[in-house]
Amino acid sequence: MHRDRQPRRILRFRKTERHVHWALAIPFLVCWVTALILVVVYNPDPQRPFRDALSWIHRISGVGLFVLPLIAVARTSGDFRIHFNNILQAWTWTFDDLKWMGMVGLAAVNKNVKLPEQGKFNAAEKLNFMTLLGTYPLYIGTGIIIWATNGAFLSWIVHFSMAVIATPLILGHIYMATINPSSRVGLRGMITGFVDRQWAKHHYAKWFRENFEGVEPHAKTQATDVPTPRAPIASRPSPRRPRADTLYEVLTGRLDRADACEELGVESNELSRLIGQFVQTGSHVLGEGRHHRLLLGQPREMPGSETTDR
Ligand code: HEM
Repeated sequence: MHRDRQPRRILRFRKTERHVHWALAIPFLVCWVTALILVVVYNPDPQRPFRDALSWIHRISGVGLFVLPLIAVARTSGDFRIHFNNILQAWTWTFDDLKWMGMVGLAAVNKNVKLPEQGKFNAAEKLNFMTLLGTYPLYIGTGIIIWATNGAFLSWIVHFSMAVIATPLILGHIYMATINPSSRVGLRGMITGFVDRQWAKHHYAKWFRENFEGVEPHAKTQATDVPTPRAPIASRPSPRRPRADTLYEVLTGRLDRADACEELGVESNELSRLIGQFVQTGSHVLGEGRHHRLLLGQPREMPGSETTDR
């Protein structure tokens, strides 16, 4: 594949990863903001109006923090491996991660400092991820105890201390995701799934190399010419079906375009281009009969295993 044929953006987070992230992040943020108001505004003067309402919003978002991520995972239970892989990534530390942590401050002020290559998550993200994983069950557990006992002191202290520890991490995380110029580029990845190829190559060089570099399309794919980077190991759908089947299913209305983009690892405009190309040349992969029916808008069968474009 020529360099100029490579898609400008690559798939960083699949739908299941994005859903789990926001299913955690939104209730967590609601919990955090309501807790802050309860402590700062209401603790000095509990008689102020609307305390109960805030307390209930906090509790309900606490329930959401427990239930929503479970629903998000359950809805795509086949993708469990992806989450497991991400967790494994967060807990796997190498010497390069420690070096990265030691040098990142210097690199921020001196552009000549070269940081060690990072995998899917950099060391700071791993730390954030580990803290979340470590404290998540404690938030839920102590929250339930405080609720059930109407304020058990020890649980409250643990609950409160964890929120204090989480505060700089969460604020740092949001700053990096939305304000810091060199990292906010990645926010797109948590919204659409796709990030700028060069940005990913620079910030997550090891992950990029392992998953996207030096991957040539199979000769037989020329008919559909999908520029497929290997999907990241952590995000690889299983099992992948022939590419022509995916395009065929989009054309016949059986597959949502967004899902097809994920499956093929391309963005919407690239998908349109591929579909256009597929319609023109699809007879190579579908056979004359099915291609003809497709063009006439009368698909009678699902593309079968005889379809060859791998
Ligand atoms: C407005 C709020 C938030 C925004 C805009 C945001 C954005 C992001 C983005 C862009 C990433 C991907 C970074 C990458 O490319 O590696 C990410 C990852 C992640 N986020 Fe968030 N996030 C928010 C809130 C939260 C909250 C509240 C939590 C925890 C409760 C959280 C936990 C995580 C974790 C564990 C990861 C994976 C590891 C990492 O990149 O740190 N996020 N988030």
